[in-house]
Amino acid sequence: MGLQTSDHLVIFGITGDLAKKMTFPSLYNLEKRGLLTTPILGVAFDDWTVERLRDHGKESIKNVEGSIDEAVADRLMARFSYVHGDFSDSTLYSTVAQELSGASAPTFYLEIPPGLFVTVAQKLAAAKLLEGEARVVFEKPFGTSLSSAQELNEQLHAIMREEQIFRIDHYLGKQPIQDLIYLRFANTLLQKIWNGSDVDCIMVTMAENFDVADRGSFYDAVGTLRDVVQNHLLQVVGLIAMEAPVETLTQPRIDLFKTIPSAEPTSVVRGQYDGYLDVDGVAKDSTTETFVALKLQINSLRWGGVPVFIRAGKQMPVTATEVVVRLRHSAGVFMGELRSQNKYEDIILRVGDDPGISLSMKVKSPQDNAIEPVRLDVAFKSALGYVPLPYETLLSNAMAGDSSLFPDQVTEEETWRIVPPILDQPQPVEAY
Ligand code: BG6
Repeated sequence: MGLQTSDHLVIFGITGDLAKKMTFPSLYNLEKRGLLTTPILGVAFDDWTVERLRDHGKESIKNVEGSIDEAVADRLMARFSYVHGDFSDSTLYSTVAQELSGASAPTFYLEIPPGLFVTVAQKLAAAKLLEGEARVVFEKPFGTSLSSAQELNEQLHAIMREEQIFRIDHYLGKQPIQDLIYLRFANTLLQKIWNGSDVDCIMVTMAENFDVADRGSFYDAVGTLRDVVQNHLLQVVGLIAMEAPVETLTQPRIDLFKTIPSAEPTSVVRGQYDGYLDVDGVAKDSTTETFVALKLQINSLRWGGVPVFIRAGKQMPVTATEVVVRLRHSAGVFMGELRSQNKYEDIILRVGDDPGISLSMKVKSPQDNAIEPVRLDVAFKSALGYVPLPYETLLSNAMAGDSSLFPDQVTEEETWRIVPPILDQPQPVEAY
């Protein structure tokens, strides 16, 4: 089942910011690893020559990677052709069709403003480019509310099959996030305690020690909840709490999301950092949150109402993305007195730039009979070596026809069901 391997990659928005930061470096790494086999067509509004695009691509790779293997970069750039034009103009799509002649399974990657998703998809369909094995990869955000996500799904389903739609959430492409499943299910030690009898609460944190920078007008219309909670952090919750997958990761995540009631407006704290209102593109009286903390509940057999706390924010003291699984205090008989000392046993899964796992253990203090907390800590980078970039994984999976790391329609709509009550009845923002 699934789509066959792609024979042409077409990137709409190739001259944009995301391509510069993510797409070129990811394609370069795929080329280096010998995993790229197809020609690549770049499409954008800018009137560039293909030579200019190739120079720009190499420059982008150098900026991100620090250095560049010229032979690999030249091999990658030789795959590129380029066409430019207005995305709403049908003649652009005739040119794309000519460039693709002979391709039977193209991958169209739309790294363009979401307001253009439907226009481009409809024009591709009208040019008969979405038939058979073609697929379209959509960048985030996919909708801004439950109703807009549903509407977008409907409009796309009118012109293509669900199996042809790949919705990107780059968190699912991150190796440390995929590793959550392996850690949970491959280790008896963790597997046995992963339930509401042993776990007191789950805390998912994404702290960023930088501000919204030059993204003021984008961010002000979105806020932290829509920017990272509805998508990235709920996907993390999905992987942390779902049942073991039988076939793909999609169904167990959907089943899990269905056990999470919509968030209560009173279980939320919203914050806004000092100085946010001075950022270019931000409304002077904006009440958009740059920090959010919320409590969700998982009402499944495994979790029995265990609370999940999600926190995310800009301008935090540190940058860290992690999941803390806090264990319940168990009543010991012999060790009762020691156990009653209020030290938490936490399993900390670091899923950001410094991936790893820490277990807090209680040991005897050498001086007396008190407990001393120590940490068992493993950094995966030094233990496991090269980690592919999220877009390396996602683009190559989309081209291979593997959609298991892409939220499907139901997942997207379920996650949009969970957050809206707090968007509809927002708590006031506290300054920080
Ligand atoms: C993006 C958000 O989707 O994810 C950004 O728009 C956020 O605001 C970013 O900073 C975080 O991604 P990462 O990979 O740097 O953790």
